[in-house]
Amino acid sequence: MASLRELYAVPEVDSHWTVPQEYDVIFDWEFDEGRTQLMHLYQKGKDMQWDALERIDWTLELDEENPMQLPVEGNALYGTPIWNRMSKKDRALYMRHSQSWNISQFLQGEQAALICAAKIVGQVPDMDAKFYASTQTMDEARHIEAYKKLLQKFGVSYPMTRPLQVLVDQALRDPRWDITYLAMQVVIEGLALAAFGTIRDVSQNPLAQMVNAYVMEDEARHVAFGRLTLRDYYPTLTEAERDEREEFLVDACYLMRDRFEGREIYEALDMPVEECVEYTKQSEINQLFRTLLFQRIVPVVKDIGLWGPRIRAAYEDMGVIHYANQDIDAMQADDERIAADFDARKAYVSAIAAKGGLGSTDADATAAE
Ligand SMILES: [Fe+2]
Ligand SMILES: [Fe+2]
Repeated sequence: MASLRELYAVPEVDSHWTVPQEYDVIFDWEFDEGRTQLMHLYQKGKDMQWDALERIDWTLELDEENPMQLPVEGNALYGTPIWNRMSKKDRALYMRHSQSWNISQFLQGEQAALICAAKIVGQVPDMDAKFYASTQTMDEARHIEAYKKLLQKFGVSYPMTRPLQVLVDQALRDPRWDITYLAMQVVIEGLALAAFGTIRDVSQNPLAQMVNAYVMEDEARHVAFGRLTLRDYYPTLTEAERDEREEFLVDACYLMRDRFEGREIYEALDMPVEECVEYTKQSEINQLFRTLLFQRIVPVVKDIGLWGPRIRAAYEDMGVIHYANQDIDAMQADDERIAADFDARKAYVSAIAAKGGLGSTDADATAAE
């Protein structure tokens, strides 16, 4: 199985990234019962572990021309003079690269989540939070496996974009444990949930749908973990301390919103980079997408009590404040239900195939839906 190194479309990617650390690890010698909701989430984390090798049908393939079978109109360049000049073959190559760039950011983000969750195990003071962070650490390792396998099907991949690297670096270097949560469980995983959700719900490719639906089931718990921990912690801080968090959050949100340039794709494909970036910025579909990305972040930020004038002004400016009252618990329940639907469909197809009711294989039957 190829390592991703051989699949990078960017030359000279470093083989490792080192982030120096300076923080206290904390032992909890009380071993008390733990908070009910957090222990409940931990139990769920244990019960709902799954194996990417078994739960996902890896005999399924991506589409030759449009790997994840996403709507072509959803492309940032669609309908521009650049798009109109491209041959069918060039468009297929561009779609393969841009979709792979997207999944690559998911994969890179998964490794960042793995490392942040492990950092939280050591750094957070309470045992119940250490317990939960340990199940998250395992979840993230499984997500890396799943996205790596998906990327191998693309045959091309991309390194972590600079803005994501900047935020992860801040999350890891900051000695305050809650900043790791803010950057990872609130901002990065909140964004990821929305981005995974678009693929799960819009893609027509069964493999891409399945991978994202299963990962989302776990990510919804991770976001809930951040929310439960920070909701208890922030009321204990001073207003000045909460202000610092709000400032961090505003910067992080702008940084993530403005990262969708895809410059690396245009460079790799020898396309007119500045022109493409300009079209991407103007693209209506891209602007809509950038707004949608915040639907899982804004209600959490409100819920954890970082809802001062600075945050509200930023979300007004970004046009995402209307997400503030979304029902987060209902969204998490939906994510779990949809993942269960995928399991049910797969079990149904296998049962029919086992009875000899289908002339095709399990994989063909799912792909033909
Ligand atoms: Fe993950
Ligand atoms: Fe996660």
